[in-house]
Amino acid sequence: MPLRVRLTLWYGTALALILIIFSTVLYVITARSLRDAVDQSLEETAAVAVRSLEERGFLPLIDETELMSQFPELARIDKFFQIFSPSGTITIRSPNVKQHEMPLSRQALEVASSGHTLFESAKYPKEPPLRLISVPIIYRGSLLYIVQVGTTMDSVEQTLNRLLLVLLVSMPVALAVSLVGGWFMAGRALRPVDAITLAAQRIAGGDLTQRLTAPASADEIGRLTNTFNDMIDRLETSFRQIRQFSSDASHELRTPLTVMRGETELALRRPRETDDYKIVLESNLEEIDRMTRIVDELLFLSRADMGEVKMEHLPVQLDLLIEDVHRQASLLGQERDIQVVLSATTSAVVLGDELRLRELFLNLLDNAVKYSRPSGTVDIALTIYQGQARVSVTDHGIGIAQEDQPQIFDRFYRTDIARAHTKKGTGLGLAICAWIAESHRGEIEVQSQVGEGSTFIVTLPLASASA
Ligand SMILES: Nc1ncnc2c1ncn2[C@@H]1O[C@H](COP(=O)(O)OP(=O)(O)OP(=O)(O)O)[C@@H](O)[C@H]1O
Ligand SMILES: [Mg+2]
Repeated sequence: MPLRVRLTLWYGTALALILIIFSTVLYVITARSLRDAVDQSLEETAAVAVRSLEERGFLPLIDETELMSQFPELARIDKFFQIFSPSGTITIRSPNVKQHEMPLSRQALEVASSGHTLFESAKYPKEPPLRLISVPIIYRGSLLYIVQVGTTMDSVEQTLNRLLLVLLVSMPVALAVSLVGGWFMAGRALRPVDAITLAAQRIAGGDLTQRLTAPASADEIGRLTNTFNDMIDRLETSFRQIRQFSSDASHELRTPLTVMRGETELALRRPRETDDYKIVLESNLEEIDRMTRIVDELLFLSRADMGEVKMEHLPVQLDLLIEDVHRQASLLGQERDIQVVLSATTSAVVLGDELRLRELFLNLLDNAVKYSRPSGTVDIALTIYQGQARVSVTDHGIGIAQEDQPQIFDRFYRTDIARAHTKKGTGLGLAICAWIAESHRGEIEVQSQVGEGSTFIVTLPLASASA
């Protein structure tokens, strides 16, 4: 069932319940108070009648005309009187009593004999209902008369019937009007949801450039729209990254394949000396190594993405590790006449995986050496800064442009300057570094100026601080 129908039905049911309860309460209270008013006026009239009789000293009653002439206040048109003897026979009655007999009921007689007043309702065929009060008159301990005052409930019944009619007619009308209103309002409130659904369908169809037009309000719909748009933004970005990644990966693997193919074809064109074949095979081996490295690194990154890479969580003496890495990097630097200097070190222990940390710093030093100019210097330092171990690797090489800096940690990303500087490199090293730093709850950042050099800073929490 559509939400709009359900909302309207809920609303209608709630309103109908409220209307029914309200009308019932209204009707009951009105009926009660109208009847109370009749009883009260009967009581007052009976009191007047009793007082009149008392004033006459309870003399034997002669006839009604005399009574009425003496006490005109008793001849009120809307009420009638009957005066009964203690045995219940009629002694006197006012002229406005209707033609038929209205004997004293048995209950009234009993209650009067015990000295109490009684209210009764009576109904005669083809007559409006009557309300009666019977009051005993007791003189010196014995029952003298019973005075009965009555009135018709005609106007009360009429009023109640009219009220009932008004309620019965107006209730469905009010309900219908508000159901139509509710239907309309629900439709209005749900329209943006429909718009979102349509847009979501288009996007699900593959068009990730679609966005919802956000309403100005910060209400539920506004928030939903913004959340939805944010989600599509992220989806679009990651889809683009995946596409980019596959094309980069194929490209990186194709280059060595093309090289191998070209060299092999050339070698096969005519018979050659054994040494020539050896040269070709050696070159091919180099390309195979290169591809193996790419595939290994890709495999590592994708396993890291899926959380499948195991990480040790042991104390690592960082200063010893840095010294060791420094020695290795010095050998690397020698090939290009680059001096690697360990400028500062301090005792520091971090929790983590020694092999991964070694890979992290070697990658940074490899970059620093690779992107330095011949006979430059590379500087590595370990310090403690704000309660964290801080390793910086500084070179005075080609540098990285400001706009490239956020991207160099992406997979396969290489700056144009770096490509011009060296063919070696696939752009996976820093992606691995960033992952290793993050999984040690550390950070890696870069400061660089084109043509002046770069500094990579790795901060890692100390073992004592994280324990
Ligand atoms: N020290 C540096 N100086 C200048 N540019 C750098 C430096 N380190 C990294 N870069 C830039 O960042 C890019 C990414 O570095 P990364 O280490 O990920 O890849 P790579 O060194 O090119 O290849 P790989 O490390 O996978 O062999 C580099 O291609 C280069 O453009
Ligand atoms: Mg590198």
